[in-house]
Amino acid sequence: MLELRNVTKVFNPSTFNELVLYRQLDLKVESGEFVTIIGSNGSGKSTLFNIICGSLLPDAGDILVDGNSILKLPEFQRAKRFARIFQDPQLGSSPSLTILENLAIAENKNRRFGLGKAIDDKKIDHFITLLKEFDLGLEEKLNVKINNLSGGQRQALALLMVTMGNPSLLLLDEHTAALDPKTSEKIANLTNRIVKDNNLTALMITHNLRQAIELGDRLLMFHKGKIVLDLNGEAKKSLTVRGLIDKFNSLNMTDELSDAMVFS
Ligand SMILES: Nc1ncnc2c1ncn2[C@@H]1O[C@H](COP(=O)(O)OP(=O)(O)OP(=O)(O)O)[C@@H](O)[C@H]1O
Ligand SMILES: [Mg+2]
Repeated sequence: MLELRNVTKVFNPSTFNELVLYRQLDLKVESGEFVTIIGSNGSGKSTLFNIICGSLLPDAGDILVDGNSILKLPEFQRAKRFARIFQDPQLGSSPSLTILENLAIAENKNRRFGLGKAIDDKKIDHFITLLKEFDLGLEEKLNVKINNLSGGQRQALALLMVTMGNPSLLLLDEHTAALDPKTSEKIANLTNRIVKDNNLTALMITHNLRQAIELGDRLLMFHKGKIVLDLNGEAKKSLTVRGLIDKFNSLNMTDELSDAMVFS
C-alpha cells in the first residue's frame, strides 16, 4: 500500500548543523497492516510522518501509494487520503465548535457540498450510537464545545472523526502520550478496535513499549534514522518490554563504542 524507496533526508545541508537523518531508507507497509513504531528522541519517527504527509520533501528517493509516486502531490491533496493525529489533543478537532458540529464536518470532509442539511435527527442518532461504543460519556455531550472536553475525550473524538473520512492511511504520532495512564490505555484499546474494525492501514508512534508490543501486527524500532528492528507475526508476539529495553541499551552502547573508536 505504502512504500518508501531509497529515501534520503538531510537537514541544514552544507552547514555546521548538517544532519543526514535518513540514508536510503526503505519501508513497505501492506494494506491493512497496523505498525507500531518506537525509537529514542530524535531517531526520525515524526519526520517519517512529515515526509509521508508532504510537509517535508525527501532529498532523494520516492514515496509510493499503491505503486504510484505521490511525491508531486501537495500536502493538502495528501491530507484527503491520509489522516494524522498528534500528541496534542488540541489539534484533532475545532475547539470552538461542539462535538456534533465537529462530527458533521468530519462526515462531510470528502464530499462536494457543504454542511447544508448535514445535521438531521437520523444523523444525530447515528453519531450517538458511535459515541456510545466509546464508553466515555461523549454521547451526552453532543452540544458541548470541544474546549470543555478532557484530553482523552478529545483524542477519542479525533479517532472517530478521522475514521469517518475513510482514510487510506492513519498516522498516529504519540497520540496517547499526553494522557494519564488509565486514559492512555483506554485510547490505545480504542485505537486498536477502530483500526481493526475498519481494516485501516495504520502507523502508530509511541514511547509506551507495552502498547507497542500489545497493539498492531508489526513493530519497527528507529535509531538514528535507521530501522534497526522490524518484527511481525510470532517474533512480535514473543517480544517483552525487558527485551526491547535491552535492545535500546545495546544500541546506545554500540554508539558509545564506535564514538570511542573514532576519537581515540
Ligand atoms: N525541519 C527540521 N529542520 C531541522 N532538523 C529537523 C527538522 N525536523 C526534524 N529535525 C531533526 O531530525 C531529527 C529527527 O527528528 P524527529 O522529530 O523525526 O524525531 P522523533 O523520532 O520523532 O523524536 P521524538 O521521540 O522526540 O518525537 C532530530 O534530530 C530533529 O532535530
Ligand atoms: Mg516525534
